[in-house]
Amino acid sequence: MKNNDLLKTTKEYYDSPDADNFYHSIWGSEDIHIGIYESPDEDIFTASKRTVERMASMLPIHQGAKILDLGAGYGGAARYLASHFNCHVTCLNLSETENVRNEQKNALSGLLDQIEVLQGNFETIPFDDDHFDIVWSEEALLHSDDKTSVFEEVSRVLKKSGHFIFSDAMRTDYVQTDKLAPILERIHLKELGSVNRYRKLASKNGFQEVAVKEMPDQLTMHYSKVQKELNTQHNKLLKVCSEEYLNRMNEGLSHWINGGKNGHLNWGILLFRKV
Ligand SMILES: C[S@@+](CC[C@H](N)C(=O)[O-])C[C@H]1O[C@@H](n2cnc3c(N)ncnc32)[C@H](O)[C@@H]1O
Repeated sequence: MKNNDLLKTTKEYYDSPDADNFYHSIWGSEDIHIGIYESPDEDIFTASKRTVERMASMLPIHQGAKILDLGAGYGGAARYLASHFNCHVTCLNLSETENVRNEQKNALSGLLDQIEVLQGNFETIPFDDDHFDIVWSEEALLHSDDKTSVFEEVSRVLKKSGHFIFSDAMRTDYVQTDKLAPILERIHLKELGSVNRYRKLASKNGFQEVAVKEMPDQLTMHYSKVQKELNTQHNKLLKVCSEEYLNRMNEGLSHWINGGKNGHLNWGILLFRKV
């Protein structure tokens, strides 16, 4: 798929009532990313919040810091960062449906002065050079087939010594791409990122590695939780999502779970500093 078509398809997907209602219900209306589970019986909301807390704990965040969240979803991370660190967060996100919900939640939390929500594509970031102290992203880079541009753009808009932190669902470096076909087809991608691929892109764009925390088991655990929740809440979800969507989602989740169990997939948090 050509890049413009991919952007259009991704936007239409996240804007659709099916996806919006599903994600908003299953994750507890704040986050749409992989959680860090301390025990198997933990719920999705708690584990997903822990990922935000863990990432924030890895960063130096000063009062008034300017943070850019790429692919910000419903803005759960932005509200956490703004309220805990008294910083300013810009949410750059493709989906207008999610952006409306994000702004409503910011208004309810009294954070409109600290959080700005922009519709846009993180492959062409609409800011001047050296603007942000931190660029943050969770489970959004995987949607891009132009990760080279993403790293170039992040490096451009970050101030010197600024940090780029992201979590992402990735492939392992040694798996053959054809083994990933069911996953790639569903999200219309040619490839997934990997730790080594991200390390290379970071180094090529003037970043130094600070930390790479690989937690592939969390991916399998998380998608198993989402699938279980889908099945438990099936009748309730049918009131807001089409049956076809739920069936396709169920099938897609099985691909991610099997990929994780077979050791083909990886997930983790990567932190780089612009030198
Ligand atoms: C799995 S969701 C993660 C949302 C959010 N980061 C979170 O953790 O809750 C992926 C997000 O990436 C956004 N996205 C995908 N491609 C994008 C692009 N090229 N530019 C901006 N946002 C994008 C989608 O709109 C969606 O909100």
